[in-house]
Amino acid sequence: MDPYLLGLRLGGRHVVVVGGGGVASRRVPALLDAGAAVLLVSPKVTASLEDLAAAGRIRWAARGYQPGDCAGAWLVCACTDDPAVNAAVAAAAEAQRTWCVRADDARASAAWTPASGQAGDVRVGVLSVDPEHGDPRHSAAIRDAVVAGLRSGRLSARHARGRQGGVAIIGGGPGDPGLITVRGRQLLAEADVVLTDRLAPRSLLDELRDDVEIIDAGKIPYGRAMAQEHINAALISHAQAGRFVARLKGGDPFVFGRGAEEVLACLRAGVPVTVVPGVTSAVGVPASAWVPVTHRGVAQEFHVVSVHVPPGDERSTVNWELLGGSSGTLVLLMAVERIGAVADELLRYGRSPDTPVSVIADGTLPTQRTINSTLEQVERLVMQEGVRPPAIVVVGDVVNVAMEITELMRDVTA
Ligand SMILES: C[S@@+](CC[C@H](N)C(=O)[O-])C[C@H]1O[C@@H](n2cnc3c(N)ncnc32)[C@H](O)[C@@H]1O
Repeated sequence: MDPYLLGLRLGGRHVVVVGGGGVASRRVPALLDAGAAVLLVSPKVTASLEDLAAAGRIRWAARGYQPGDCAGAWLVCACTDDPAVNAAVAAAAEAQRTWCVRADDARASAAWTPASGQAGDVRVGVLSVDPEHGDPRHSAAIRDAVVAGLRSGRLSARHARGRQGGVAIIGGGPGDPGLITVRGRQLLAEADVVLTDRLAPRSLLDELRDDVEIIDAGKIPYGRAMAQEHINAALISHAQAGRFVARLKGGDPFVFGRGAEEVLACLRAGVPVTVVPGVTSAVGVPASAWVPVTHRGVAQEFHVVSVHVPPGDERSTVNWELLGGSSGTLVLLMAVERIGAVADELLRYGRSPDTPVSVIADGTLPTQRTINSTLEQVERLVMQEGVRPPAIVVVGDVVNVAMEITELMRDVTA
């Protein structure tokens, strides 16, 4: 007969686990997560179970199973490596009408543990309906597929009761759709409306349901622009109409992303808002080109600078003198078009002309390209190669580490 899948509330209830090996080591933490009061019966136990006993999280009877050990239990797990002991435990449990899970013989077991996993606020359990011929690894693989699908948002599972209207400001990472966070992808999958930026991982939009409204808030430099006030107004009006709005941004919303302005605007309008951090291009793009922004013995600090206005511009608040005098790594955003002025300023304030520079355009995307140069040469090379935004410029000796990694990679993959 088919098994009946059930959820048990074990909070404070007495559960007996007989056996202290690998199976018990997997079961006991899950039982404790469910709040069970666990009695472990076994002469020997694994180190992790011993730690739980020492911490007072379980009671441990350090001896073999004895008749009467199951008394008062709501649930029994027989997981010794001796089938005769497991059979005795199961028989004792059966006699007192307590459910018993036998680890060694599903056919002889009154209850089975499903392959289970959690995705957000749901717990997924998978049981093979044929315990004799069912393959536990198949159940686990189905569990993994379902949990991964739900976590990533690829399996659409909107709450039937619907989400309350509100706004999620989501950092989408530097561009590769695989670099958004699990939470970001989940919230994106639940959205009724998505407001997206030009540098957000737009390929994720293809996966959204047909009824999701997508608004392109792409702020193309010198081109069509949707002013920030219009973006704020759109977020607020959709949320106030009861929709759940995902604001999908590139990188991290709070790193030169105006995310906090959007949060403030929503809150001032009384709209609930949440923020999901993202992998910022300031760190993720250099990493994608093997540039570590810090490296022991090379750089113990890094500075992230927006160069949307050049050095010397009255709107610039950057202390170029300090950056020129420092030996730390400089990570420059929005800098390609002003790279000559930046290099001049850094040279003026003390950086060496042969300081290594890496310019990484379209980081993490299939079109990614890296140009390595020096402070003295970088402007000429950027012009010669026709490098266009978006790009990250990294200045400092960490660029040499990337070159070493690239060389070794070539040998390893050759
Ligand atoms: C307005 S800032 C937004 C930064 C974003 N909030 C973050 O945390 O990455 C835009 C700049 O980020 C950098 N950028 C963003 N995505 C990039 C990518 N995939 N490759 C290179 N640079 C990128 C470029 O310097 C670009 O001009």
